[in-house]
Amino acid sequence: MKKLGLIAVVILVATGAATANEKETGTEPELSEHMAHVMDEGAKSDYNLVQIMHDLSFQLNRIEFGILTNNRYMIEAGARAITSHPVPKGGLKPYLKKNAADIKAAAPSIDEDIHKAALEIAKNAKTASMAELQDKANGITKSCIGCHEMFRNVQ
Ligand code: HEC
Repeated sequence: MKKLGLIAVVILVATGAATANEKETGTEPELSEHMAHVMDEGAKSDYNLVQIMHDLSFQLNRIEFGILTNNRYMIEAGARAITSHPVPKGGLKPYLKKNAADIKAAAPSIDEDIHKAALEIAKNAKTASMAELQDKANGITKSCIGCHEMFRNVQ
């Protein structure tokens, strides 16, 4: 009887560990999966581009605040929200007024850079130094600006 109890405990602990492991690895959105959605013109969410941009900006602020306060939870949560941002309703095209062709051509690689940096931040949020995390966050901001520059102050 005692033996059976011990076996049950071992099995419970083993399955618990497996579930924890899955949770750790199962939450990363695949880059290819994310990229496949970027230029998709079929509606993938009910949100318009401005709503998504506002939230991206907010999540970036969340990362910044986390870095300034050593709040690793905020850093990780903000980064994960960026890696899984939705595609605007109808894709990017309907929202582009100036320089649309150039932006369409550049968007996948800019978005990939943002996604990669956010993923790096999320994965290293618990261990990296605040300075390292800030470097990566700066990379995200530069990419955001890179796209904005293509239509802001353009004749
Ligand atoms: C692929 C191009 C692209 C990328 C990358 C991009 N944006 Fe934007 N963003 C836009 C466009 C287009 C608009 C203008 C939307 C409009 O005015 O209709 C915009 C507008 C904005 C606005 C202003 C919204 C308003 O109310 O006028 C903010 C804030 C913003 N983006 C934040 C970000 C942040 C933060 C990132 C990076 C994490 C980012 N953007 C990355 C294309 C991009």
